[in-house]
Amino acid sequence: MTPTEIIFMLAGTCTVMFFGVKLLGLVMMLALKLYYPLSVSFFTSLGKWAVVTGGSDGIGRAYAQELSKHGMNVIIISRNQEKLERAARNIELSTGAKVKVITADFTKDDMYGHIMKSLEDLDIGILVNNVGILPSQVPCRLLETADLEKMCRIVLPGMQERGRGVILNVSSGIAKIPCPMYTLYAASKVFVERFSQCLQADYKSKGIIIQTVAPFGVSTSMTGHQRPDMVTFTAEEFVKSSLKYLRAGDQTYGSLTHAILGWMVQAIPTWVLQSEVFQYHFKKYVTERMEK
Ligand SMILES: NC(=O)c1ccc[n+]([C@@H]2O[C@H](COP(=O)([O-])OP(=O)(O)OC[C@H]3O[C@@H](n4cnc5c(N)ncnc54)[C@H](OP(=O)(O)O)[C@@H]3O)[C@@H](O)[C@H]2O)c1
Repeated sequence: MTPTEIIFMLAGTCTVMFFGVKLLGLVMMLALKLYYPLSVSFFTSLGKWAVVTGGSDGIGRAYAQELSKHGMNVIIISRNQEKLERAARNIELSTGAKVKVITADFTKDDMYGHIMKSLEDLDIGILVNNVGILPSQVPCRLLETADLEKMCRIVLPGMQERGRGVILNVSSGIAKIPCPMYTLYAASKVFVERFSQCLQADYKSKGIIIQTVAPFGVSTSMTGHQRPDMVTFTAEEFVKSSLKYLRAGDQTYGSLTHAILGWMVQAIPTWVLQSEVFQYHFKKYVTERMEK
């Protein structure tokens, strides 16, 4: 065999192995009951309460609703008292679960004492770190944006003592690529993913699941309530799907569709993403979608 043939053969083998592993991941996501089974009592076995930051709207509200359907009482935290109470009433009426609300602004450092006091002595089984701030819906360069983690520290000691618990950190699909024009947002989500991965390594042996969920499009106020379509989910659809993947490792897209999308965007060469042409059309596409 000539050296050129050996190089081609090695390159071919590596490519087949790379895509084979990806394909296996997709197959496992399809057969989730087989590979990632959750018992009916899984959620309630973790504890009585679930805490959801940003739980008054969008994806957070959907997590609160879905977890209460699984028998958990929920505590939702966000800034607007009226929105919180409305969400709490809806959840209580539709599921019969108990709902507590905490008003807090996560951009302020002085509110963790207040949260800690409100959560004291509660049997917290799940924390969903969902609050995220997208500085501008339309993609824009860093200098065009306005300025802008301690929840784990509050709930982890109790989980560690009880030897059970789940922490879900909501990231974003755009953390998977160098995403220009959402620079701060995408970079902060990469932080969330690394933070979560390291925390999982620290606490896995204590029986605590720590996972990042990285959706692409979900129709909420953050994304201008885009019309749901093949790749854009409603918050409820997304959350329902993502909770099924709790045992699927420390990172998940939360749905098969977004996993495939993630695979596709990661195949785009970085030079394309960084080109002016791409940035121009990306901004134009999102702006037109928002206007619709
Ligand atoms: N929607 C998507 O397509 C998408 C895609 C990928 C990732 N994500 C991620 O999913 C998470 C939820 O997004 P979403 O689309 O559901 O957003 P959303 O509909 O705008 O809801 C945001 C929630 O967070 C609360 N909130 C916002 N800023 C806050 C602050 N400073 N302090 C306390 N609470 C605050 C809001 O209530 P108040 O305004 O009353 O405080 C609301 O309950 C975020 O981390 C986002 O990055 C979303």
